[in-house]
Amino acid sequence: MEKILDHILSGGEARYFPEAYTKQLVTMEDVNRYINTSDANEHDLVIIKEYSRLPTPIKKYGWRNSWNTRLIQKYWEDNCSLVLHTIHLNNNLKELIKFLEAYTGMQFDSHVYCGRVGSKSYSYHCDVSHNLILQCQGQTRWRVYPLITKQSMTFSEMKLSPVIDIVMNPGDIIWVPMFQVHYAEPITDRISVSFPFSLPCKEKTTIQPPINLTINTQRYLEIH
Ligand SMILES: [Fe+2]
Repeated sequence: MEKILDHILSGGEARYFPEAYTKQLVTMEDVNRYINTSDANEHDLVIIKEYSRLPTPIKKYGWRNSWNTRLIQKYWEDNCSLVLHTIHLNNNLKELIKFLEAYTGMQFDSHVYCGRVGSKSYSYHCDVSHNLILQCQGQTRWRVYPLITKQSMTFSEMKLSPVIDIVMNPGDIIWVPMFQVHYAEPITDRISVSFPFSLPCKEKTTIQPPINLTINTQRYLEIH
């Protein structure tokens, strides 16, 4: 893990790191426990069906909110993706975040992607944060495209030439700098954890978004 972080801090480009993490970070049992026991907050759970976000299912009980677990179960069976925005799924996740932050001096978040085979999360898009992604269970195909270096780069230009096109297995990590278009496709039931973060000012001299970046608004290319 230290080598990966050194690569990032030195301004290294997008890269796939096979067999980089040996612990079992997150399981479906962790996800089930979280959904069944935590107070519900609409920002903590995103449900995506065919690239579109659905309303987060929350039930209100007096002072407290809880998840509508029956509806979440139905979404899961309908092949929706569940994305949990929390670092509190288990101690391993909390400890890994603590390590990442101590080593780099940056603040990391944790987004846990769960989906069945054939489910879809986000379509081709790029993010405004950097991302380190760890495959925890199952397999996900990842395609990463070149950094957008000119205005109105077309989707078809990028689609023709991914710089990374691999199948991630448990323990594999991929590093995707911000503004770099990517697409993840579960090819089995899967859990992946994305760790989005921003670089502090001094490192921004080595990894920068393109100047005057504009994202082409054609279908399937989004920024969020
Ligand atoms: Fe993304």
